[in-house]
Amino acid sequence: ATHAPVTDKDCSSITPPYGKLLKKLERVRDLLDHRPLTLAEKILYSHLADPEKSLSGGGKIRGETYLRLNPQRVAMQDASAQMALLQFMSAGLARCAVPTSIHCDHLIQAVDGAASDLKRSIMSNKEVFDFLESAARKYGIEFWKPGSGIIHQIVLENYAAPGMLMLGTDSHTPNAGGLGLLAIGVGGADAVDAMTGTPWELKAPQVVGVHLTGTLNGWATPKDLILYLTGKLTVRGGTGRILEYFGPGVHAQSCTGLATVANMGAEVGATTSTFPYTASMRAYLQMTGRAPVARAADEAAAKGYLSADEGAEYDEIIEVNLSELEPMINGPFTPDLATPLSKFSALVQENGWRDEVSACLIGSCTNSSYEDMTRVAEIADQAKTAGLQTQVPFLCTPGSEQIRATMERDDVTSSLEDVGAVVLANACGPCIGQWKREDAKDKENAILTSFNRNFKSRNDGNRNTMNFLASPTVVTAMAFSGKLSFNPMTDSITLPDGKPFQFLPPTGQDLPSSGFTLGNIDYYPRPMPEPQPETEVIISKDSQRLEILEPFSSHFGPHNPRGLELPPSRVLMRVRGKCTTDHISAAGPWLKYKGHLTNISENTLITAVNDENGDVNVAFDHDHNATETASDTIPTIAKRLKSRKQPWVLITDENYGEGSAREHAALQPRFYGCTIIIARSFARIHETNLKKQGILPLWFADKADYSRIDSGDTVETVGVADLLNGSEDAGIKLRISKRSGKIFEIPIKHTMSADQLNWLRAGSALNFIRSQMA
Ligand code: F3S
Repeated sequence: ATHAPVTDKDCSSITPPYGKLLKKLERVRDLLDHRPLTLAEKILYSHLADPEKSLSGGGKIRGETYLRLNPQRVAMQDASAQMALLQFMSAGLARCAVPTSIHCDHLIQAVDGAASDLKRSIMSNKEVFDFLESAARKYGIEFWKPGSGIIHQIVLENYAAPGMLMLGTDSHTPNAGGLGLLAIGVGGADAVDAMTGTPWELKAPQVVGVHLTGTLNGWATPKDLILYLTGKLTVRGGTGRILEYFGPGVHAQSCTGLATVANMGAEVGATTSTFPYTASMRAYLQMTGRAPVARAADEAAAKGYLSADEGAEYDEIIEVNLSELEPMINGPFTPDLATPLSKFSALVQENGWRDEVSACLIGSCTNSSYEDMTRVAEIADQAKTAGLQTQVPFLCTPGSEQIRATMERDDVTSSLEDVGAVVLANACGPCIGQWKREDAKDKENAILTSFNRNFKSRNDGNRNTMNFLASPTVVTAMAFSGKLSFNPMTDSITLPDGKPFQFLPPTGQDLPSSGFTLGNIDYYPRPMPEPQPETEVIISKDSQRLEILEPFSSHFGPHNPRGLELPPSRVLMRVRGKCTTDHISAAGPWLKYKGHLTNISENTLITAVNDENGDVNVAFDHDHNATETASDTIPTIAKRLKSRKQPWVLITDENYGEGSAREHAALQPRFYGCTIIIARSFARIHETNLKKQGILPLWFADKADYSRIDSGDTVETVGVADLLNGSEDAGIKLRISKRSGKIFEIPIKHTMSADQLNWLRAGSALNFIRSQMA
């Protein structure tokens, strides 16, 4: 079965319902007075839960209106799937509302090669994989076991289809955009919205048009296009925006090349990236066993669904002539530091960097297509013929079993291994720091990778490793020179006989002429498995990494002396300045506790600054005893309040909760007993996450009131009961009782919708969903 060809699959669960989408688009067009639409708008608006409600306000939509959307599919990777599944389980549903898949890729550590790495990682993460597999079986989720491949490559090969809207719990989910859809990276709580059939909310992004003309030539590849754009837009340039490519240059690219471009749209912060339907997309669908999807997409394209309307307006247009694009090298330490290859050697000199490369790495979700791999194999063959071997460790991570097996069958793997490559497991490995690297501990050194991110410590945990991003072909050529200043387009390598050797520009093959092969068929889950409700989800009682999520209890009820007002709550602390989701729930070593709320909560706010004394991770316990005020770490004080059944509130500054959509940043305070967070302002996604977990986010009406409330003060709400009883105009006030005995009231603002008030009353969004099922 090793080289079983990919044949036509059952496409019933993966073909978008184009008829329904087109019908909804007609309703949308009526609401928008038939103005021309961009492709991104067509896809988004045709997935609206209720177009009339979202679009009939007459106001500006892009950049302003919140859309309630029904995504068609969810994909989750093994690290983020843990908390998403634990939350989904606490909603009490028997199955997912949309097709969902789990991919075991992030937890595989690279040490010395695919077979032993896989075996070792399966052992060390057994409890997590067992949990994910049993939960997948219970709820009818497709489970891609360790070794099957990297989430984004598998999604592109199996699930992505033009014109669909999907969510993934990983920031490079937009990779699927290579097939002309909208694929958006989200936190677990958002994925749970889609999995429970709750409309998912997104502020309508602006749409940036990227107009591509000309053709790539020589060494330039689609990776260089996105490296160039990352330099131009910077790491923040795409925030709140979708990048929509158009023009003749789009149609000249392979589908997988477009996927690389979409993948790294995440590096400029873009919501996602997309492209109009092309002949390469059709060919890719056909060759990956999805001819019925291609036929359906052809029909939808003929009806105008899969490209922008003539005259559609973009919020900005960027022009790129591909004929002028040269290979780029981006880094170190940030992906937007872009240098054309021809100028890189001067940069090495200017910075006084040692002229040495210490390792070259290719593959990952960003660059492991058949085209990429045949191009690098050609470089390897040229070098081998000249008698060259790679000078530094040269590691390759195939994106999936299908790619790995096809590479092997077509002698791509042997070409790479012949010159010294080590082929790693089909998994994330060094791209996410799962790289047990022994040769450069703490030393300053430079690596070249075809990956997408290059923040400090990302690959090998060494802050002194400079990671430069480039196309797989440039990375491979550099492995033969071993010099950072080497320019394979112009420089030569001296052969043992003293003669110079220069690479010719590589050519690759978009798709394999004998089709793809599946490889080990044990890696492929049955499509759309039926849920097996009798399955017991495996979580061992003494696990330190996984813990069943107990539903949060409602703040209201007989135990609350104030009925439908929030219970009197003590101020834990006043947080000063920037407080991102990273400050609230740190990453790094804490990542291993992502599925264990009790353990990960020990990191709550540990890098937040206390405004009362300027210290980091210090809070005060005013009830410690009658005579002294004890100070301790923030999680310790929060835990003490929890053990005394004393609800608490947090006073925070501007843009509280900015950064990633990490749901732990809302779950953890709630777990310790937080009822309200009062901020000068909130980051929108985090504000919604707080509401989902049953915390009431409130905005100071007068920002100066921030300084009037101190730790140990007691906060009571006035007006929440009226709101919960349906009086929409009810204003909320807060009554503050100082420790001195002084009492005053302040006006406060809220953004709770009717749905969100239901969540607050029930204790969380998931509690509310469960109550609806009963
Ligand atoms: Fe994995 Fe790296 Fe992609 S971590 S999903 S290979 S960005």
